[in-house]
Amino acid sequence: MRDIATIRDEFPILQRTVNGKPLVYLDSAASSQKPQCVLDAIQNGYGQSYSNVHRGLHTLSEEATDAYEALRGKVATLINAPSQDEVIITSGATMSLNLIAQSWGRAHLQAGDEVLITVAEHHANIVPWQLLAMEKQIKLVAAPMEADGSFDLQTFKNYISPRTKLISVPHVSNVLGTVYPVAEITALAHEAGAICIVDGCQGVVHMPVDVQAIDCDFYVFSGHKLYGPSGVGVCWGKMAILQDMPPFMGGGDMIDDVEIGMSTFAAPPVRFEAGTPPIVEAIGLAAAIDFVLDIGMDVIRAHEADIIKYAHQRLAAVEGLNFIGTAAGKSGVVSFTLDAAHPHDISTLIDQDGVAIRAGHHCAQPLMKFYGLNSTARASVGIYSQRSDFDALAEALEKVNRIFSA
Ligand code: ALA
Repeated sequence: MRDIATIRDEFPILQRTVNGKPLVYLDSAASSQKPQCVLDAIQNGYGQSYSNVHRGLHTLSEEATDAYEALRGKVATLINAPSQDEVIITSGATMSLNLIAQSWGRAHLQAGDEVLITVAEHHANIVPWQLLAMEKQIKLVAAPMEADGSFDLQTFKNYISPRTKLISVPHVSNVLGTVYPVAEITALAHEAGAICIVDGCQGVVHMPVDVQAIDCDFYVFSGHKLYGPSGVGVCWGKMAILQDMPPFMGGGDMIDDVEIGMSTFAAPPVRFEAGTPPIVEAIGLAAAIDFVLDIGMDVIRAHEADIIKYAHQRLAAVEGLNFIGTAAGKSGVVSFTLDAAHPHDISTLIDQDGVAIRAGHHCAQPLMKFYGLNSTARASVGIYSQRSDFDALAEALEKVNRIFSA
């Protein structure tokens, strides 16, 4: 395994300073930084092999098509999908969830059916179901979390009813870091005759994923949190379910034959990829997947677990700091409040020391309300994170305490 210092060297942005201080980047849950191999793939994608895909018979179009299509196989390897034809390339997890809601949901949900989520969803796993609920009179039900941010399967089970037709949960909470027991949740969903979606935005970046072991029906994620470009993501679904889904958007590429009166549609996954896709973004994401697979997802999980453990030890020494979410085995993020200062003030002040964290509701307003908060501060990690990042954060927070007590 390459040591972390060598891996950090592959991220040019980590060499820069912010406000005259070395950058301490603790906002990877919002978006991760990009290694040189991804930057090279983007440059090469535009600089050497750029053309539209699936449309040309010339060399550049064939090269771009091959490079774009290669993403499906890499995703299949990353998440152990049975077939690369089950990998739909989208603009991100938000589009993936909207695709499922508008295609599968519209076709299969009836008035009175229930969609079950938890209060810890980010908005991408709430609002698409609300939009569908307005149209189809389905009911959106949200199960609670425990006070310490952990997820209790028995409590969750009580929210499953004979009307539950779809369960959609995160793999890992973007605020609490709680790792959901997604295989057990999927088993409960199937027992109830429902399908199960796993929102893997914060899962696939931190740990190995095996969709066949989980047995979920869909697994979605965004490229930009996985060291790839923004504007690209994945919706993986079981082929039998994809085959039974109508198109989501109409346009070029997703058709078989078009008449003015009616069209026939391509098979999945292309059926769900209308129009010119995010070509170079997909090429960049393919390079990012090569990058993480080369390091090894087990290695990434172990490294980040050490950092998260250290983060809790180090930040516990900061006066007036309250952790939000302390579930056992948590991953990726450390959310907190400070008695002395509002999260927005914390973030602005520590930026003066080069420390970048996110402050606010983290696109998870229902969760904030559930815990009686408006916002939290959140430090989040990636493969390039190191223990000293949390020393820098703790020192910057101690400075905030001093400013507010002066
Ligand atoms: N959902 C993203 C986050 O957690 C944007 O920051």
